[in-house]
Amino acid sequence: MAKPGAVLAICSAAALLLASCQSDKSRWTDAQLHLTAEQSEGRKVFDTYCSSCHSAYTSKKLTGPPLTNLCHRRAMPSGMPPTDERISAVVMRGRGMMPAFESVLEPSDLQALLAYLHTL
Ligand code: HEC
Repeated sequence: MAKPGAVLAICSAAALLLASCQSDKSRWTDAQLHLTAEQSEGRKVFDTYCSSCHSAYTSKKLTGPPLTNLCHRRAMPSGMPPTDERISAVVMRGRGMMPAFESVLEPSDLQALLAYLHTL
């Protein structure tokens, strides 16, 4: 007969495993994603203004291309390198079907957004 403590340990380990296996990372909490305060601010900006057209954690194409691994790629879909300058320019001025966010985002929002995009 297993001890109650052992049962509890096994159950919480299973729960943890289940949580970390949950494939849809967009449902993870900021803590599960290990986001800093600034990155979690940026995540809010992303969820408000970007997530309708871009997936962050899956390769699913919405209106815009998925932004998984954005800052770790050699190039963005356009072929431009994923530097903060280029990403900021696309976000602030828009590109093709993507609207400009110049009049919507404060500089601090943009900084937080960039910090979050680096975690993808
Ligand atoms: C209405 C839909 C829409 C919204 C909202 C939107 N985008 Fe886009 N985004 C697009 C489309 C479409 C493209 C492809 C543009 C092209 O290359 O013609 C794109 C391209 C991009 C690219 C790739 C640029 C490149 O050089 O290839 C980045 C990065 C990006 N978006 C980031 C964002 C961020 C960050 C936000 C939120 C602030 C955002 N987008 C909001 C539709 C959108």
